[in-house]
Amino acid sequence: MGICWSDTPHDTIGHLSSTGISQTTSQTTSSGVSRGSNVSGNSRFSASSGDESYPNGQILPTPNLRIFTFVELRAATRNFKSDTVLGEGGFGKVFKGWLDEKAPGKSGSGTVIAVKKLNSESLQGFEEWQSEVNFLGRLSHPNLVRLLGYCWEDKELLLVYEFMQKGSLENHLFGRGASVQPLAWNIRLKIAIGAARGLAFLHTSDKQVIYRDFKASNILLDGSYTAKISDFGLAKLGPSASQSHVTTRVMGTYGYAAPEYVATGHLYVKSDVYGFGVVLVEILTGLRALDTNRPSGQHNLVDWIKPYLSEKRKFRHIIDARLQGQYPYKAAYQIAQLSLKCLEAEPKHRPSMREVVETLERLQASDQKPKQPRVRPTHSMAHRQGQQPLHHRSPLHTNLDRNRGYQHSPRSLQIFAYFGSACSVLRSRFKAELVEDIDS
Ligand SMILES: Nc1ncnc2c1ncn2[C@@H]1O[C@H](COP(=O)(O)OP(=O)(O)O)[C@@H](O)[C@H]1O
Ligand SMILES: [Mg+2]
Repeated sequence: MGICWSDTPHDTIGHLSSTGISQTTSQTTSSGVSRGSNVSGNSRFSASSGDESYPNGQILPTPNLRIFTFVELRAATRNFKSDTVLGEGGFGKVFKGWLDEKAPGKSGSGTVIAVKKLNSESLQGFEEWQSEVNFLGRLSHPNLVRLLGYCWEDKELLLVYEFMQKGSLENHLFGRGASVQPLAWNIRLKIAIGAARGLAFLHTSDKQVIYRDFKASNILLDGSYTAKISDFGLAKLGPSASQSHVTTRVMGTYGYAAPEYVATGHLYVKSDVYGFGVVLVEILTGLRALDTNRPSGQHNLVDWIKPYLSEKRKFRHIIDARLQGQYPYKAAYQIAQLSLKCLEAEPKHRPSMREVVETLERLQASDQKPKQPRVRPTHSMAHRQGQQPLHHRSPLHTNLDRNRGYQHSPRSLQIFAYFGSACSVLRSRFKAELVEDIDS
């Protein structure tokens, strides 16, 4: 059963258009998002997730967000101190913060939050910020990260989220260092199911939401490894009933974006299913969707690994060596077959996310016990290639990690084509100008 976006009168919610909230001359935009002055705004908010009573999710009539002042967030993050940095993406840095409602301005205690601060050089920022507030501010589901509020003062744009204790799936699958423990099979399955439920919720709302940027770095994990999807900067409303797709400029992340979308700009709900398939393969193999440090012919994980997924005898060789053989072979193979279905070239041949959830839940319920560790080392693909598994890291990021003292996600072939040479840094997203509205 679908969830209806149009249950609420339009004028109270503003237009949930794909471009997001429009900036108006007044202090408050059509969707109720206010530009802050130095007042504290609607300071009432609850840090508890609020979605416990709605296990199937809900869409709020208006964004239920607190407006934070810049001063508050500066205090919460100890003046955006470098040792509070949790990571950095295309939008800017993400800081850990502490809100103490009883003693405002005092940091180090109280509710833990994550504060994403727009980098002043980010050209994509405002549009993505709007989209995040507009979509995530109204969506509530146990598998979507909770946006608590925002700050918009002068040139400062910030977003405030619930803090996700275990960071991103990307970090767990590919990160290094003593703090990164390999994920056990059952945890991997739990994460896949959580993320699939989040996507299924988006896809089954009456006016479907296409997420458009599904990848391991956007899957965040709470203290018990519940997966929550974050980053709605690229989210789009799905096509009208008479259409199969929406046509957009191509934006996304290399290695995860569906082939039909990259080739034509036609974005289907099932384009998200392709991205999910890529993440499933990453979960199985512990290898990145795209890694230019791998030998040529292996840069794109899906292109390289697909033949190994379908053949039972070859399949064993591609399973993440960090599992040390502790996985139920049959279930793992079935998940590989599911990932192949998600990666079908034709969107209509891919399963719906509901079907994906059902398959994964069935496999979880069948409770196949992971095998005992093998005495012999696993002959994983990475071993056979004479490489260290999971250590496919760009030299760039080796330096970043050392210099910054925080964990930065390695990025491969991540170029903002539209920034031009002034900003030809390696970044996570691409955005290619296609012929706009080819269909219209
Ligand atoms: N709510 C959060 N709680 C904890 N860590 C977070 C949160 N949001 C983001 N992070 C961390 O900050 C990193 C950067 O996030 P983001 O700006 O979304 O960029 P990206 O998605 O490209 O990694 C994430 O990979 C994650 O490690
Ligand atoms: Mg992210």
